[in-house]
Amino acid sequence: MQIPRLHPDTIDEVKHRADIVDVVSEYVVLRKRGKDFVGLCPFHDEKSPSFTVSQTKQMYYCFGCQAGGNSIKFLMELGKQSFADVVLDLARRYQVPVQTLEPEQRQELQRQLSLREQLYEVMASTASFYQHALRQSQGQKAIEYLRGDRQFNEATIQQFGLGYAPAGWETLHRYLVEDKHYPVHLVEKAGLIKPRKEGAGYYDVFRDRLMIPIRDIQGRVIAFGGRTLTDEQPKYLNSPETELFNKGKTLFALDQAKAGISQFDQAVVVEGYFDAIALHAAGINNAVASLGTALSLEQVRLILRYTDSKQLILNFDADKAGTNATERAIGEIADLAYKGEVQLKILNIPDGKDADEYLRSHTSTDYEQLLANAPLWLNWQIQQIIKDRDLKQATDFQQVTQQFVKLLKNIVNSDTRNYYVSYCAEILSFGDTRLIPLRVENLLTQIAPTTTPSKPPSAKSNRSHSPLPPSNSPTDRHLLEQAEALLLRIYLHCPEQRPVILTTLEERDLEFSLSHHRFLWIQILEFIGEQIDLISRLHDIYLELAEELGSISHLFHLNEKTKKEILRTPQVVQAAIACMERVLREKRYRHFLELWQETDPEAEPEKWQSYYQAFYTEKIKLQELDRQRTFSLTELL
Ligand code: UTP
Ligand code: MN
Repeated sequence: MQIPRLHPDTIDEVKHRADIVDVVSEYVVLRKRGKDFVGLCPFHDEKSPSFTVSQTKQMYYCFGCQAGGNSIKFLMELGKQSFADVVLDLARRYQVPVQTLEPEQRQELQRQLSLREQLYEVMASTASFYQHALRQSQGQKAIEYLRGDRQFNEATIQQFGLGYAPAGWETLHRYLVEDKHYPVHLVEKAGLIKPRKEGAGYYDVFRDRLMIPIRDIQGRVIAFGGRTLTDEQPKYLNSPETELFNKGKTLFALDQAKAGISQFDQAVVVEGYFDAIALHAAGINNAVASLGTALSLEQVRLILRYTDSKQLILNFDADKAGTNATERAIGEIADLAYKGEVQLKILNIPDGKDADEYLRSHTSTDYEQLLANAPLWLNWQIQQIIKDRDLKQATDFQQVTQQFVKLLKNIVNSDTRNYYVSYCAEILSFGDTRLIPLRVENLLTQIAPTTTPSKPPSAKSNRSHSPLPPSNSPTDRHLLEQAEALLLRIYLHCPEQRPVILTTLEERDLEFSLSHHRFLWIQILEFIGEQIDLISRLHDIYLELAEELGSISHLFHLNEKTKKEILRTPQVVQAAIACMERVLREKRYRHFLELWQETDPEAEPEKWQSYYQAFYTEKIKLQELDRQRTFSLTELL
């Protein structure tokens, strides 16, 4: 594989010559309107034109489907071509001489590329070596285990490329280095051999183990998991992280499952290699395994790429470790889940079985039935909270209520939240329907932090704190999102405002809350002080990184409304910053309030007093910020 790394000068020159109006006109009939051109969007069906092309900015943007970018992006999208391919095409067409990166840079890149290529080759050779060994007499124990204990048929063994690592200390080493002539250091880099601690030479990492190749999305072997066939520890030995293998970004069997995931529009995540394999063997081919680590956000995003409705079912073990892993996975993706960006369900198989064990005594239809009945993650969490609790006991009741409140607080969608408030209220009423309204009322007041029941008022302190809106309310989040977007828009489109924004954010130690805003901001910071066309440069970066532009591309383009917004910049900048600062202040307010509530005024009067001071100061600041924020933002947005 040879990726041409183009010199930035070449890219600039191509963009300079390939005028956006020229490029787009080849595919879209454009009419002049004001400074810009408009036409029917080629990226979605429409009757009236919302696709605009700006010659001054050399950008296009569709107000209908939010597609947008420069001429290179346009051609990439239209022809489903890579960045480099489009630039090379255009260079040919406009006779721009193509310069690639400096020879040293190119060599370095080439070296890295070829290292990866060579590693893929070593891994592939190793996989066939293990597969071959499985069929020799030395592999008999292993193949019997697969056929007998695991009840796998030939097709499954082949499909997953299962193999056997012989028992000797350097069988693989000899094969790869002596027979196949791979350099020793390469085999070591592949994580297959290790230098001996004493004396010279190397020994095989995997010995006398059943070998399971771990593949990337394209099906290339990048690592192995090796299961012992005896009582040896660990039960599974996995490849170390290498140039090719990053555990947190890999899912076992995704290469096999991606088609099934698209087809069912749903993905099943299990814990074990053999659970995934057994599911595929039973015809449930939308299953992947998480490699024994907590499922990461990155892994989840990887899976969700293949589903439209973002349905994910976690089928982890029902034992303590499995429940913990489930909790951790939920924690990782809670943000997505609370916002409804993933439809998460939790399946715990009855009797604490894992999928593989279950399928040995049940049919795939039984398993599909379990999938269909799996509770939504919030219901699952509620079940976990009340498990082994006796709500008639005061302490249990109080603890359960508190955990409910914590859970409910985070639900962004108000319909969903209300639904679960009633649901929890019902549980807390233990069958007495007359109690439900009272419980609902009680939960609702606790969800709003304003009326968090505090200690009985004591004579000396004045603690009539006036109501604060809940921090997680949808409107607040919405306002924050708008404020951040506004600030970024101003930064991008009003260069004279940049210094103020930069210094204010820095002085007040503020961060963007939304991850796509944060990512954009990091890119922006890279270009401080450079005399460049910031928007177009950022665009290139997103294209080259193959980052999703969808969530931020609207920031690069101004419509009538956003144009008006940013015209009133000085107040707007202040208001937007106030909105962001509010988030930080509110966190601190809650933090101190909690500490204050937890402190016993009799036992630790000084601490109690200082926490009170601290949260009160934050509260005053918050009220001040609210005034600034509502002043211009609400009338604008
Ligand atoms: P489990 O120990 O839950 O076992 O490991 P399992 O998959 O049911 O194993 P079998 O059925 O006895 O073969 C779940 C997953 O955790 C990782 C592996 O990915 C395994 O599939 N794991 C487990 C390790 O990486 N190392 C270990 O020592 C154990
Ligand atoms: Mn198992």
